[in-house]
Amino acid sequence: MQTLKNLFDNNRKWAARIKKSEPDFFTKLSRQQNPEYLWIGCSDSRVPSNQIVDLLPGEIFVHRNIANVVIHTDLNCLSVIQYAVEVLKVKHIIVCGHYGCGGIKAALEKRSFGLIDTWLRHIKDVYRHHQDKLDAIADENERFNLLCELNVVEQVGNVCHTSIVQKAWESGRDLSVHGWIYSIENGILKNLDVCVDNVSDISDTYEIKSS
Ligand code: CO
Repeated sequence: MQTLKNLFDNNRKWAARIKKSEPDFFTKLSRQQNPEYLWIGCSDSRVPSNQIVDLLPGEIFVHRNIANVVIHTDLNCLSVIQYAVEVLKVKHIIVCGHYGCGGIKAALEKRSFGLIDTWLRHIKDVYRHHQDKLDAIADENERFNLLCELNVVEQVGNVCHTSIVQKAWESGRDLSVHGWIYSIENGILKNLDVCVDNVSDISDTYEIKSS
């Protein structure tokens, strides 16, 4: 029985297309991956990392979860960051959120969605950190969009606060953490200008000194 035949058909055509334009593409990639970027984004099907920045397989290492959250006890996300930074030696970590994020929207509501409530709690915490600013916005959509942006900024901080990133900086590594947001409505990325590339730019509270 062939299940999801359409996807296998697509795959064959895709692989043939790539091989036609670059015959040794897969052979080269099978030997090693050497991505310069780690992308931490939302699982939303409308925000596919490689397509948005028009990069081929092998060029971007990816971690996605609901609402692009980086939690300091999330072994999955931390393992991805560790591997990307220490083994692949990426130069850039991009946290990319998007406007209209369903996870952020759910966090703004005061009802239960089941298991995911625990995950969305972290976004409620972001809201609380900026409550005055957010509550002052009368337009609901504008408030929602700002929370999408503030969540990215918060997660950029969380990436920087990891011992993994701080260790890389301490050893003199060139590593920048960026915060971007994507618009599903027009396909355009916006830089939130919160790039951090050294320990002096993070809050003293989270600074980890090796000795
Ligand atoms: Co989303």
